[in-house]
Amino acid sequence: MSGAPSPVEAARAHYIAAPAERVGGQIEVPGDKSISHRSLLLGAIAHELTSIEGFLAGEDCLATLAVLRALGVRIEQPAPTSVRVHGVGPWGLQGSSAALDLGNSGTAIRLMMGLLSAQRFDSTLIGDGSLMRRPMERVAQPLRAMGAHIDTQAGCPPVRIHGGASLQGIDYAMPVASAQVKSALLLAGLYAHGTTRISEPAPTRDHSERMLRAFGARVEQAGGTVSLTGGQALRGCPVQVPGDFSSAAFFLVAGCLAAQSGLLIRNVGCNPTRTGLLQMLSLMGARVQLRAHAPGPRAGAAAGAAGGAAAQIGEPVADIHVQAGPLRGIRVPEELVPLAIDEFPVFFIAAAAAEGETVVTGAAELRVKESDRLAVMAQGLTALGVACELLPDGLVIRGMGGLADGRFDGGRIDSHGDHRIAMAFAIASLRARAPIWIDDVANVATSFPGFVGLAHEVGLQLTA
Ligand code: S3P
Repeated sequence: MSGAPSPVEAARAHYIAAPAERVGGQIEVPGDKSISHRSLLLGAIAHELTSIEGFLAGEDCLATLAVLRALGVRIEQPAPTSVRVHGVGPWGLQGSSAALDLGNSGTAIRLMMGLLSAQRFDSTLIGDGSLMRRPMERVAQPLRAMGAHIDTQAGCPPVRIHGGASLQGIDYAMPVASAQVKSALLLAGLYAHGTTRISEPAPTRDHSERMLRAFGARVEQAGGTVSLTGGQALRGCPVQVPGDFSSAAFFLVAGCLAAQSGLLIRNVGCNPTRTGLLQMLSLMGARVQLRAHAPGPRAGAAAGAAGGAAAQIGEPVADIHVQAGPLRGIRVPEELVPLAIDEFPVFFIAAAAAEGETVVTGAAELRVKESDRLAVMAQGLTALGVACELLPDGLVIRGMGGLADGRFDGGRIDSHGDHRIAMAFAIASLRARAPIWIDDVANVATSFPGFVGLAHEVGLQLTA
C-alpha cells in the first residue's frame, strides 16, 4: 500500500470504499452500451425514425451521438434515456471538417471506421489518451482489403479515412475474436458490392447481427461465419435497450460475496454471447438464477414493456437473482473468455475471494482494453494482499476464501482511468478489512452513470 494521498491527488476523482458486510434489495442497471451504440449507428443510416428507450446516457454512447450529429443526423434526446434518431439513409451523412472525437470508446471508433470508410467524404477519428493508444489496424487492415483508404498512426488513432472508395465484399477470417471488428466489417459490408463473409475464431457478441435483422437486413449465420450482401436498405424501428449485463456483473459478484438474503437485478440483457460470467460463477459454485423478467415496482410504462420490446430487437432479457455462498477457484475454459471479455476485472475479485486457485489463460485481449486489464488488476490485487501471478495471456489468483481470516487488506488502487477496474475494486470492499482508496475513477461515467448511488442502495459503503 502506498502512502496517504497528497491534497492535489485527493482532489482527483476517487472513491473510498469502506468495508461493508451485506448487500441486498432489488435494482435495475442502466441500458446496454453495445446495443445503445448500435441503435444510434443503424438508426442514422436507416430510413425513417428509430426511437430508442432505455438508452445508456453514458459518455461513450453520448460521444457516438455527438459524432452522428456532427455528421448531419438529427437526433433528439427528450430525456436522458429516450432518443429519437431521424435516419438520413445510407448516403445522407455529411462530412465534418473537424476531427470526430469518440472519447474513451473503442466500440464507437471501430464501428465508425466501418461506416465512414464507405462514405464519399473524408473523416478523421480521434479520442482520449487511452483511446489514442489502442490498436486500430485490426479494423483498418480488413477494411483496406475491401478497398477502403485508411491511415492510422503507428496502428493507433488518429484514424484518417479518405472517402470515395468503392468497397467490395471479402471473405475474412478474423485473427482475434472481436465483435468490434466483426461489426465494423458488417457496417462496411452494407455498402460493398457482393457479399462480405466474416469467420470468427470463437463466438463473440452478436448484437449487430440481431439489430441488423430487426432493421430489415438479411444476415446469414452458419458455422462461425456471418455473411451479409451489400446494398440492403435499413428501416428504422423502435428499440428497447435492456439493462447492461456488464454493469449488472458488478452487482452479481457483490451478491455472490455478500447477499445473505439475496439480491435481484431486474431487466438485464442476457444474450448468450454476453453471459460467460454466469457460467464461470456457476463453475465456482455461485448461487445465481435467471428468472423471467417481471417489471419492478418502480418501472415506468416503457420499462414495463421491456420484455416484449427488447424481444423485437431479438435480445433476451431476464431478472437475475443471486445469493451469497462459498466460491471455489476454477480454471476458466478458454472458450468462455470472449463471452465474458468485459467482466474479467470483477471476476478477478470473485476469484480473489474464492477458496483455492483460479487460472485464466487465453485472455491476451484484456491487455488492449481501456487499460492493460491483466497488469492493472494484478497490481491492484497485490496492493490488497492477494497473491497472484501475471501471465502473458492471463492471471493466476490464489483466493483468500479458505484462509483463517480470508479478508483483503485495505489499500490504494490506481484504476488507470479504466471504469471497470474502478468499479471492480469498489466491489472488493465487501471482503476488505480496511477501506480501499480507488484513484482516477471519473471514467465510470463512460459506462455506468449512477454507479455510486446504486452501490449505496444495495449496501456498499462507497463515497466519491
Ligand atoms: C464490444 C466488444 C468488445 C467489448 C467492448 C464492447 C462491442 O470488444 O470489450 O466493451 O460493443 O462490440 P472486442 O470486440 O474488441 O473484444
